[in-house]
Amino acid sequence: MSEHWWRDAVIYQVYPRSFADANGDGMGDLEGIRSRIPYLAELGVDAIWLSPFYASPQKDAGYDVADYRKIDPRFGDLDDFDRMLETAHSAGIRLIVDLVPNHTSSDHAWFQAALAAAPGSPERERYHFRDVDPAAADTPPNNWQSIFGGPAWTKTPGGEQWYLHLFDSSQPDLNWDNPEVHQEFKAILRFWLDRGVDGFRIDVAHGMVKAPGLPDTGGDGTIEMIGTTQAPFFDQDGVHDIYRTWRPIIEEYEGDRIFVAEAWTDSAERRSLYLRPDELHQAFNFDLVLAPFHAVDFRKAIDSEIANNAGVGAPCTWVLSNHDVQRHVTRYGGGEAGLARAKAATQLLLSLPGVVYVYQGEELGLNEVLDLPAEVREDPTFFRTNGEQIGRDGCRVPLPWTREGTSFGFGTGGSWLPQPADWAAVSAEAEDGTPGSTLEFYRAALAVRKGHKATGLTWLADPGDDAFAFDNGTLVCVTNFGDEPVPVTGYGTEGLGGSPPGVTGTRRGGAPGGFTMYPAQGGGPGRVGAGPLATPRNTPCEPNSAFLTGSSISCPHDRELRSDHGHRQGAAARDPRILGTARRGRRCLP
Ligand code: NOJ
Repeated sequence: MSEHWWRDAVIYQVYPRSFADANGDGMGDLEGIRSRIPYLAELGVDAIWLSPFYASPQKDAGYDVADYRKIDPRFGDLDDFDRMLETAHSAGIRLIVDLVPNHTSSDHAWFQAALAAAPGSPERERYHFRDVDPAAADTPPNNWQSIFGGPAWTKTPGGEQWYLHLFDSSQPDLNWDNPEVHQEFKAILRFWLDRGVDGFRIDVAHGMVKAPGLPDTGGDGTIEMIGTTQAPFFDQDGVHDIYRTWRPIIEEYEGDRIFVAEAWTDSAERRSLYLRPDELHQAFNFDLVLAPFHAVDFRKAIDSEIANNAGVGAPCTWVLSNHDVQRHVTRYGGGEAGLARAKAATQLLLSLPGVVYVYQGEELGLNEVLDLPAEVREDPTFFRTNGEQIGRDGCRVPLPWTREGTSFGFGTGGSWLPQPADWAAVSAEAEDGTPGSTLEFYRAALAVRKGHKATGLTWLADPGDDAFAFDNGTLVCVTNFGDEPVPVTGYGTEGLGGSPPGVTGTRRGGAPGGFTMYPAQGGGPGRVGAGPLATPRNTPCEPNSAFLTGSSISCPHDRELRSDHGHRQGAAARDPRILGTARRGRRCLP
């Protein structure tokens, strides 16, 4: 167990609209979330990250906040929030809420006041308003394009000025050169910290500061959110000054609370700057979201994250899916092979040092819903590109909880997006206690991780062309990304006992105190061991699977770190938070 919970936690993303609906209006709510906390506790997660639930016209599914201190009535009220938080805490689960500081909703009182006020007024200074050039009345102030498609500028209803919105026109960008904006967000932080939240996920954490003068971007001004392009509105150095003023605030509060950045940068190195000791605690690493399912791509992403975060003493984060990207089962080809790959990737992530994020429904093996009809879609991307970009609704379809019933137990009043008919089979009810189900795989994998937290990472010899193996100090994880089985003889500790490969069962079917080892294959049986991990001496690692054995490294780095036998050098040796590069290419955790 690390000194700080957030260095090796498993954090589960709840997307409130689609998790569980207690009031039967077809949209999820806080009471629905509260009712499913026991499910999350049984899954074994350490914390929840909750996407926005604030008062909002829902033009961007709640990332358009009209009042940062109110709960949207669709989701409940502040009492519901307090009850949900209390239930989560009683179950030993922390709660991180989403903070959206780059923009407000156009329904926010500030924006409404700005529209009612004159150009040049203090009200308009809270946003980015610019005059219309009478000689070129239809030409926006610069060439920036909205991330959701179309120009990033819209004229005020009176037509006398333009205002900037990097996202939907209903999401005007705040002007972070204005001290009032700073004061307001510090007060919002305190409002939620006082209520007891364990931290904040910062939306578009790289976007608040814009380059002076708002210069044109290169090219045609189109920038993708999910990409690595440099732009005058993303990843400006000035944004770090904001976080330096936030960090002391969160540290005033007890309970080891954290900031998590959603920061798209053009390199892992730039991303790590958000994680300097006086800034944020974690930043999502999206490299594996972008990586194809191949050993070489995964290894490159892993090495880069470890190396860059080591430089600032921050934990790595590992993410495969979230509410903005296609679910990884589908990204990896869908069907049985896609699911097998998804499980293998999950097993691999859970074996890495650092923090793992799980997006709701991935523990059920849900696929992306690709065939939603246009009339049910809500993502502004779909509308702003005239349907050219399908948008993100397909990963936001409400969860199936039961085999039968309206919306498979999501609620009693249907679901805001239709669920595929075959989701009965992947409902939590259908998978609960079913050997080989994705849910049982996740439960078992999380349980194994709890007892085998990584203490470092040492790459071992590749067992095949599209396969790799590493020792994390407590486990050896072999992952086969290829089409042929690879031998695993010789990896991991020998002769430790446990069940022989091939014994099937579930975590709950295992002997008390035992733990599970399994190939992370779609539909494949779980293997339950009653003792320490056995060496699968003659068992190959099948295609699209990950395999665990006991570590063969007796964790030398702990001793080395303490005694500093040349293990860390330079700044790393002087700063206890900074990681060192160990001998033999080993990376160690602080
Ligand atoms: C990132 C969020 O994850 C996404 O859902 C949202 O649309 C944009 N930021 C704008 O807030």
